[in-house]
This record gives sequence, structure tokens and C-alpha cells, in this order.
Amino acid sequence: MSITKEKVLEALGNVIDPDLGKDLVTLNMIENISIEGKKVAFTVNLTTPACPMKDEIRHACINAVKHLVDSEAEVEPEMSSKVQAGRGQAKREETDTLAGVKNIIAVASGKGGVGKSTVSVNLAVSLAKTGAKVGIVDTDIYGPSIPTMFNVRERPNINTQRKLIPLEKYGVKLLSMGLLVDQDQAVVWRGPMVSSAVKQFLSEAEWGELDYLIMDLPPGTGDIQLTIVQTVPLTGAVIVSTPQDVALDDARKGVAMFQKVNVPVLGIVENMAFFTPPDAPEKRYHIFGRDGARNLAARLEVPFLGEVPLQQTVREGSDSGMPVTAGDENSPASEAFHQIAKKTAQQISIRNANMDPTEKIEIKFR
Ligand SMILES: Nc1ncnc2c1ncn2[C@@H]1O[C@H](COP(=O)(O)OP(=O)(O)OP(=O)(O)O)[C@@H](O)[C@H]1O
Ligand SMILES: [Mg+2]
Repeated sequence: MSITKEKVLEALGNVIDPDLGKDLVTLNMIENISIEGKKVAFTVNLTTPACPMKDEIRHACINAVKHLVDSEAEVEPEMSSKVQAGRGQAKREETDTLAGVKNIIAVASGKGGVGKSTVSVNLAVSLAKTGAKVGIVDTDIYGPSIPTMFNVRERPNINTQRKLIPLEKYGVKLLSMGLLVDQDQAVVWRGPMVSSAVKQFLSEAEWGELDYLIMDLPPGTGDIQLTIVQTVPLTGAVIVSTPQDVALDDARKGVAMFQKVNVPVLGIVENMAFFTPPDAPEKRYHIFGRDGARNLAARLEVPFLGEVPLQQTVREGSDSGMPVTAGDENSPASEAFHQIAKKTAQQISIRNANMDPTEKIEIKFR
């Protein structure tokens, strides 16, 4: 009996996306089925190129076709992706503000210096390496980090519609207050000036098509942060904490702030989780305490996105303008960031798949 498209679709209708809980056909993920004799090829459009389940789903597709259609079939799924748009997309299109940006993710912490900017930058670079279109925006006007972490200094150009053109490095589009505002002037800026600058910065820049736009927030949970998260239609927030109690208290306030304004918390990252001396890789010193952020995530019932070790090359990468995920790809910290990037993308896909339809439009962009 010959293989038909219908039978292939029926088989793939039995493959469930483990994150989204529905089958690939219902999820509209299957495209371009072609059959030549025993050769069966098709495209599987996952919801993110950073999908941690990619291999698992691929194998499940092959098995399903062999099992239900023809045990001798040569099944060749091509794994591709189409990132889905998150909350507020319809509103963004309607107002032509960030219309091509599918998901905006804020990276926040309560306490300063816990590694928000480091996590933002490495998250962005890591997602870009999976093939996603990524941008990063540094909203910390008093202490911008992105210019240093990417080693860029030039002032962004302006296009014919008078919009800022983001710079680009390591496959990531970037803009920072630090590229536009003289640091000596910035210190006297007040809250409302900062938030209106951030708003302009987002809406009056040519971001183009992006799967993920990462926003590095200034430390704290004060007025400035609150205004930013209410101004921008965020898909969700990532909270960074170190394991010690003072940082965790502030991380909890961060989670509470996002929940109060109905922004989903995608998860918590534990940074500086432990130190492994380069000459004794089997040892782990828990300098700032152990599993604090992991336990906090469990207590608050938000996902735990992973832990990043304290590693000298992370700090060196940030200072020299080549993030560890761009330079030292296979180090333990890079591995950790890649895992965190995948988990974050996974959480975004899950949120977007389960989104209440009203969320698509009812977000105010003030
Ligand atoms: N896992 C790590 N290993 C080693 N150094 C790290 C790690 N994470 C962050 N750092 C270093 O710690 C310092 C603070 O990190 P970073 O600037 O990312 O924190 P932040 O939370 O953005 O700070 P701020 O609150 O000032 O915005 C930087 O020098 C950075 O290079
Ligand atoms: Mg920072």
C-alpha cells in the first residue's frame, strides 16, 4: 500500500508537544509534506528555535510515521520554527508601536549587582545563536551596562522616518541609554523623564522583526521599574537573584511587583550559584548560600530557570565586551546560559499557547 499525505497527517496527529499538551497537527505545526516512494519529508514548525524538546519531538515524529504508516518509511522531518507573538501583539500592530516585535521580556531583580545585565546579555546572545531574531534594550539610564558588555560606543544613526537604528553585535540588535545620554547629565534625570525616555526609546526605534526583545531593567522595584513594566506590553519577566537571603527578599518583591500588574513571571534565575575552582572542577563552593533562588521559585510556584556558576570568564567577558556565550561557548557558565535561554523560550511558548485571547489586545501602551 502506498503512503499518502492523509496517513502521514493522521500519524503526526498522535504526536503530542509535551509543553503545549496538544498534537502537532492541531497546533498547525506540520507543513510541506512530500512523499516519494518510501521517502517521507515534512517540516515541523516549533514555537521557538530554542526548543529544548526539539530532538524528542523529531524522534516521536519518525516513530509515529514508521509505526502507523509504514515500518520501512524513510522519515525525514525538517525541524524549523515560527515564534508566536505574546501579549499585546494586536495592540502593538494597531498602534504601529513595536509592531514587528513578537515578545518583550523584562529581566529584573530587586537587589542591585546580582547579574541582571550579565543574564540579559547572555540570554540574548544564546537565543540569537539558536537562530532567533533578538534585540536587547538597556533601560538603566543611571548605570547602563550594555555598551561595555558589547563593547560598543558609537551613537546609533537615525533613519528617514527619524527613528533610531539599533546597533548590531553577536547577532543581537541593541540600544542603550548609555549610547544616547551623556552620563554626567543622566544622573540628574528624574523618574518621569526616565520613563518617557524609555518609551520613546522603544517606540521610536527601528527594531524591525524580532522574536525576542530583552529589556535589562535598572535594579529595584521602585517607581521607575513599575512605570516601565506598565508602559511596555511585556510577554513576561525573568527575575535574577543570588542565593543569599538579602537578595532573595528583594527577588520576592520583584515577583510581587510583576504579579500586581499582571505580567507573567517566566521564572527565576539563580546567578553566582556556586564557585568551582579551575584546578578542582569536582568541588563546588556555595559562597552565597545554597539553592536559595531555587527554593524561592518553588515557594512562589514560579518556574526555576537554572543556575549560573560564579566564573571568572563571565566577569571578564562582560568587562571586555565579549559575553561568555559569544567567546567561551563551552564553559560551564555558557552551558548554563544556553539551558536558561532554552527554558525561558519554552516558558514563553507555553504562555503564548495558553494565552487568553483578550490578552492579545487589552494591553495598554501608554
Ligand atoms: N556568574 C558570574 N560569575 C562571575 N561574575 C559575574 C557573574 N554574574 C555577574 N558577574 C559580575 O558581577 C558584576 C555585576 O553584574 P551585573 O552588572 O550583570 O549585575 P546587575 O544586576 O545588572 O547590576 P546593576 O544592579 O548595577 O544593574 C559584573 O562585574 C559582572 O561581570
Ligand atoms: Mg545592570
